[in-house]
Amino acid sequence: MVSDATAVILAAGQGTRMKSRMAKVLHRAGGKALVEHVIGAAKGIAAPERIFVVVGHQAEAVGAVAKAAGVGAIHQTEQLGTGHAVMCGEDRLAGLGGLLLVLNGDCPMIRTETLENLIALYRETGAGAAMITTDLDDPTGYGRIIRQPNGDVEAIVEHKAATEEQRAVREINVGFYCFDADAFWKHVHEIRPDNPAREYYLTDMIAILLKAGHRVTALKAADSSEMLGINNRVELAAVDRIMRDRKVRQLMLDGVTIEKPETVSIDSDVVVGTDTVIGPFVQITGASVIGENCRIGASSIIENSTLADHVDVFPFSSVSASRLDTHAQVGPYARLRMGAHLEESAHVGNFVELKKTRLGAGSKSMHLAYLGDSQIGAKVNIGAGTITCNYDGINKHQTTIRDGAFIGSNSTLVAPIEIGSGSYIGAGSVITHPVPDKSLAIGRARQFIKEGWVKKPKS
Ligand code: UD1
Ligand code: CA
Repeated sequence: MVSDATAVILAAGQGTRMKSRMAKVLHRAGGKALVEHVIGAAKGIAAPERIFVVVGHQAEAVGAVAKAAGVGAIHQTEQLGTGHAVMCGEDRLAGLGGLLLVLNGDCPMIRTETLENLIALYRETGAGAAMITTDLDDPTGYGRIIRQPNGDVEAIVEHKAATEEQRAVREINVGFYCFDADAFWKHVHEIRPDNPAREYYLTDMIAILLKAGHRVTALKAADSSEMLGINNRVELAAVDRIMRDRKVRQLMLDGVTIEKPETVSIDSDVVVGTDTVIGPFVQITGASVIGENCRIGASSIIENSTLADHVDVFPFSSVSASRLDTHAQVGPYARLRMGAHLEESAHVGNFVELKKTRLGAGSKSMHLAYLGDSQIGAKVNIGAGTITCNYDGINKHQTTIRDGAFIGSNSTLVAPIEIGSGSYIGAGSVITHPVPDKSLAIGRARQFIKEGWVKKPKS
């Protein structure tokens, strides 16, 4: 942490080349909005109350991401350029002094360590500004770095304004800067929109600070992949792939077995415990936490869910916003959602759906069932084809099934309903009245037989 650092993250632009109705920085890579990644890197340097996201396009949605991350927002109602974007924060930022980091919001791979290196260079060289650069094989579209003979920066020339000779320079401006805040605010109004785009370019600050007698130095990043800015969806997919490759690699190094890792997609914040085995084509997203010694079968999707140790999710299951306690088993082909909770050693089999339902310890529902809005006790057996009729067309109603009950196959439980502990429901019943403890309830048409009903065929 750098106590006198302020970070401003530029995120007001639309991102025309995304061809999207959604602001560019809200597009997701590695399971998080682009701007969230940059906020994350900034948080390693500056205190949250000194981090600000400049919002403009879809200000409300981008501002909500900033708020959720506990950082501030600065409004830029008209996008008049990257320099103008920072100026919009003048009222709140100009008095803060210290360091001013300016970070492009569309460059999500940036790491805190790299920003630390930038600040170290800024301090060592006593510069008025330091910036990060990198060499690209194809620098088209980027601002080019023009160096002085001593290696210091002389200027950043935007692609559109560059001469043929300048365009041949492969060293580009990544869009991460560290300024002496007082020098920055003293001179920022010298930026003029004297370019074909009529924009206030932040990059003009380099020449302005040099003219005012400051040094400008640059840190050239060897790994240009960290510096990938996103302008279109091809670049978005490339960054997403790199982030996910890194995530599965880190998990494997930390003791998780991942089969065919190139097919597995795991969001950045997901936690997975040691000796868990993840099958091919699995997706684990959001704030999911998976314990140790779990098995996540092929093509399963785990979203914002918590799995204790020794949980088995068999292939092709979907688990969303749910909680699975130790030794729970799910699937194959199961669906758990909206707060489903399997207690210890509860088992759910194929084609079973649970919604807002707790299935108690040791209880089983192994085939073809819908259990919604239900509280189900321990050691309950739910037969194949059981349905809780939780919806009457207007309201949802609760089902309670007490410990040790046995629900015969193909039962229809019309909620609100309560089945007492240790009771039995005969197969094929439609249950509309509460069943007391230790009882048998049968609600179905009686079988009758008409013997010899089939006449002998006439010969
Ligand atoms: C900018 C740099 C260029 C650098 C490149 C790296 C300038 C003038 N040029 O160009 O040297 O090589 O980034 O990716 O800075 N934004 C605002 N408000 C605005 C305009 C932009 O908040 O009025 C935000 C955008 O949302 C984006 C960032 O600033 O996150 C960069 O803007 P963008 O238009 O992509 O700049 P480039 O043309 O790529
Ligand atoms: Ca850009």
